[in-house]
Amino acid sequence: MTKTEILVSDPMKKKTSALVLPLFEEEGALSGALLTADRALGGEISRMVKDKEIRGVSGETTLLPTYGKLPARNLLLVGLGKREKLSPESLRKASGTAASVLRKRNLSDCVSCLSLACPDTAAAVEAVVEGTLLGLYDFDGYKTLKKESPSYALATLAVAVGAKDRAAGEAGLLRGEVISKNTALARDLGNHPANVATPTMIARTAAEEARRRKISYLSYDRDKLERMGLNALVGVAKGSDEPARLIVLEYRPARPVNKAPLLLVGKTLTFDSGGISLKPSDKMELMKGDMSGGAAVLGTILSVADLGLPVHVVAVMPATENMPSGRANKPGDVVRAYNGKTIEIINTDAEGRLILADALSFGIRTYHPELVVDVATLTGAVVVALGGQAMGILGNNEPLIDRVRAIGDRVGERGWPLPLFEEYFEQIKSDVADIRNTGSKGGAGTITGAAFLHHFVDETPWVHLDIAGTAWVDSGEPYKPKGNVGIGVRLLTHLIEDLSRNPLAKAPDSSAPKKRVARKPAATPGRRRSPRSTG
Ligand code: BES
Ligand code: MN
Ligand code: ZN
Repeated sequence: MTKTEILVSDPMKKKTSALVLPLFEEEGALSGALLTADRALGGEISRMVKDKEIRGVSGETTLLPTYGKLPARNLLLVGLGKREKLSPESLRKASGTAASVLRKRNLSDCVSCLSLACPDTAAAVEAVVEGTLLGLYDFDGYKTLKKESPSYALATLAVAVGAKDRAAGEAGLLRGEVISKNTALARDLGNHPANVATPTMIARTAAEEARRRKISYLSYDRDKLERMGLNALVGVAKGSDEPARLIVLEYRPARPVNKAPLLLVGKTLTFDSGGISLKPSDKMELMKGDMSGGAAVLGTILSVADLGLPVHVVAVMPATENMPSGRANKPGDVVRAYNGKTIEIINTDAEGRLILADALSFGIRTYHPELVVDVATLTGAVVVALGGQAMGILGNNEPLIDRVRAIGDRVGERGWPLPLFEEYFEQIKSDVADIRNTGSKGGAGTITGAAFLHHFVDETPWVHLDIAGTAWVDSGEPYKPKGNVGIGVRLLTHLIEDLSRNPLAKAPDSSAPKKRVARKPAATPGRRRSPRSTG
C-alpha cells in the first residue's frame, strides 16, 4: 500500500528518491521547479532541451541522477505535451507513466510536482494520485513463480502544492485515494476468473465491504427472486449451476441532501457464454468481465460512503452466469418480467438487458429513486461505434445525459450520446409478447438495447451507460494496465458529488449562488415496500 501525502514546503529541499517534474513541449524557457533544478544541475536540463534530446512530448520520461547537487537523488522529467492542452487527464496519464518508471528502477518514494502545473489544485492532486496508484495496479495473485525482482510497491507518494492550496490539495488527495482503492477493487473483481468471481463471491465481497462502512446489505437468492417475480433475471440464471443473487446496497447518511435516493444498477454477469445462442470460442474468456457494470456501482457506493457524501444512494447488482444447459432459456421462450411486461427471448446472448430489466424495475418500485443510472457491458455494437475511447450514453433525460457527459470529460471517463428516437422502439416489438430482446432489423444494436431497458424505467430520470468497449483494455495504457479498467467508479462518484451540490432539477442555472441547501431527509419511506432478503 502506497502512503500518500500533501507537501506544502519547498519540494526542492525535500529528500526523496525521485523528484517528478513536468516538462512542456515547445517552451523556450524553463520555469518553476524545473528552472530551479536546472540551475542546481548547472544548466544541464536546458541544454538537453535546447539540443532537442528531450522535447516534453507526452509519454516521454527522463531519469537524471542529481549526484548530490539536490536533496533529491534523482529527477524524473515527465513530458506533458503542450501547456495549453494540460488537463487533469494528461496529469493522470503522465503520473501513470512516471509510476512505471519508478517501479522499473526500484525507487520507493517520490515527490510529484506535476500538480503544480495545473491551476485547479484539487483536481490536479486527485489526478496525480489516481494516475500513480492506478498505474501501479497489478493483478498477479495467480502467478505461482515469483517475479525476478521482488514485488515492488511505491512506499510514499508526496504531492507538492502551493502553501495556500493545502486544503484543496488534501481534498483532492482523499478523493484520489478513495477512488483508486475502490477502482482497484472493481478491477480485481473483473480480473478474477469466473470460477472465482461467482455471484456468491461478489455478494460476499459486497457484504464485507458494506459491513466496514455505513452501508446496509441485502441479497436475494433464486427462490426468493422467483417468488417476487423477477422472472427475467431468474430465466437467465436457470441455465447455470452457480446460484444467482440480487445484491442491494444502501448508503443512507444522517442528513442526505436528496429526498429520494439515487439508484445505481450494474450488470453483474459473471460469465457470458451466450447461453443456447452460444458465443464463438475466440476471446470468450473475456466474458468473465461481463460483471464490470456491477463492479462499477459497487466501487461507487463504497467511494460515496468513504467520502461521506451527504447523498442517499442505493446500488442494485443482478448477479448470475449465462450458460447453456437443459434448463437454460431457449430462443422463442417468453418470460414475464417483474413489472409485468412479457419478453420474447430471440437471442439468449442478449441476456444483460433481461437481468437489468428486473433489477431496474425492482429498484425503482422499491426505492422510488430521484434518478437512476445503469451501467452495463451491454452490446458489442458500442465497441464498433466508439471503440475504447468512450462509453455509449443513452437515456430519457437530456439534462442528466449532458451532466454525465460533462463530468466524464472532466474526470477522463468519457461518453458519447446516442439517440433514442421513437422509431427505434418499433425494432423491439414482438409478434407474440410485449417486446423482444433483440432488434428484428435495422441495426443500431446499442440503441435497441437501451430502448429495451427504457420499458423498465418509465418516467424516472434515467441514464444508461454502455461500457462494453471501455471496461477492459488488451494492451496497457499509462494508468490502465492490461485487463479490467474498473471503468465508471470515477465518473459515478463525481456525478454523485456533483448532484449533492446541484440537484438535477436546479442544474441548468449555473449563475445561481452555489449554496448547499440541506433538505430534510424523507421522514417515512412512503410507499416503499420493506424488502426482506434471503441469505
Ligand atoms: N456481454 C455482451 C456484450 C459485449 C460484447 C461485451 C463484447 C463486451 C464485449 C452481451 O451480453 C451480448 O452478448 N450482446 C450481444 C447482443 C446481441 C445478441 C443483440 C451483442 O452485442 O452481440
Ligand atoms: Mn450476451
Ligand atoms: Zn453479456
